[in-house]
Amino acid sequence: MRQVAVENFQEWREKARALVAGSVPPDDVRFTDGLQDSLFADVPMPAAGSRGRISVPRAFLARAEIVSLHRDPKRWDLLYRALFRIVNDGLSNEPDELLAMEQAVGRDIHKMHAFVRFRKIVEDDGQPQYVAWYRPDHHIVKHVAPWFAERFGAMHWAILTPDLSAYWDTKTLRFGDGVPRSAAPQEDELEELWRSYYASIFNPARVNVRAMTREMPVRHWSTMPEATLIPTLVSNARAREQQMRERAPGSAEPFVPVGAELPVLAAAVRACKGCELYACATQPVFGEGPERARLMLVGEQPGDQEDLQGRPFVGPAGQLLDRALQEAGVDRSSVYVTNAVKHFKFEERGKRRIHKKPDGGEVAACRPWLTAEIERVDPQLIVALGATAALSLGGREFAIQKERGRMMPLPGGRQLLITVHPSFLLRVPEAAKAAEFARFVQDLRLAS
Ligand code: URA
Ligand code: SF4
Repeated sequence: MRQVAVENFQEWREKARALVAGSVPPDDVRFTDGLQDSLFADVPMPAAGSRGRISVPRAFLARAEIVSLHRDPKRWDLLYRALFRIVNDGLSNEPDELLAMEQAVGRDIHKMHAFVRFRKIVEDDGQPQYVAWYRPDHHIVKHVAPWFAERFGAMHWAILTPDLSAYWDTKTLRFGDGVPRSAAPQEDELEELWRSYYASIFNPARVNVRAMTREMPVRHWSTMPEATLIPTLVSNARAREQQMRERAPGSAEPFVPVGAELPVLAAAVRACKGCELYACATQPVFGEGPERARLMLVGEQPGDQEDLQGRPFVGPAGQLLDRALQEAGVDRSSVYVTNAVKHFKFEERGKRRIHKKPDGGEVAACRPWLTAEIERVDPQLIVALGATAALSLGGREFAIQKERGRMMPLPGGRQLLITVHPSFLLRVPEAAKAAEFARFVQDLRLAS
């Protein structure tokens, strides 16, 4: 019997390849987890033999990688047996036991996506950090961490689990030792937000109590505040469904978590189906900037670049805006920058995606997100860049050129200032460019 220790899938893959190439039958190998077995060092890998490089179907490897995350130490042997059969007998159907493992890991991944709850803690340097403690059934932390990094990219967070912990600092993902439950913070500012988030993204048309209780094993309930909401949600579901249907033609409102902080709003907008625009865009583009900015700039909607990068005003109009802000003496990093509509509306022309103006219904549908941003950031002055932003903020059509450049009162003691959209400056005839740019800068200077 040959003992082979493997620590991860990559290692299993290399060693299993060598063993198959050396025609070592499954009954002669025992894989073990981790490094504790030094036996392997004593048993040299077989020489490649006459087989040369073996080829393994990509689909099998992809599924084997999922199976490798299963906690059962037998998984490596089972995988080797399957690999051996594929290579030698051309058999591609996997044994039931492997399929069951694959499904169990899949379910575990799905649950971790759904049930990790970040709690806010404030560090010494005043930077908010978000910490979650979670106990997955299988070794899935490294597999799911990139998903959280993408979804909560703007937050500093840690996901602590008994075996392994993942840390994200908005740029890099790191892994460290596991920690006991007691190391995760108990009290929780975010709790209420998560509850309202869940209450609002809850889709009443799909209430299925049996499926819900099946999806939420009892041991999760202690880490799941919103579980207490479920009975209410279920009983309100019918009424909410009715309401949602009546709220035609579409509104983001049921998707907006009430009173939530910016990172929670930015996460929640990804689930928005308040109008049709979510369907064709790459991703929503939420606002960016300090939580307490005194000045907020509102554009129309993301453009091609913004849609791809997931950030507002990073394309050509954004570069022009940056130049104008600089000239006006405004530091962009002190300003909250967002759009009236969060998804890119476009028309495909060949390979290009041509911007299409959002209509009044879409602007109105998306307004709850802008409202939530305004409530959170609480700016003193909001600058509407162009007609769409002016419509959303001022509630009517404006003649931009006539009404630009003066302060107008908004509810809540705020001021509204209307000016042109930077992309207007990109289209102005060459001869008028300098003068129009100067007027735009002048408006921004007034704002500052
Ligand atoms: N135009 C906008 O209105 N917003 C952006 O984010 C980019 C271009
Ligand atoms: Fe929701 Fe606004 Fe996107 Fe429409 S454009 S789906 S309302 S976020």
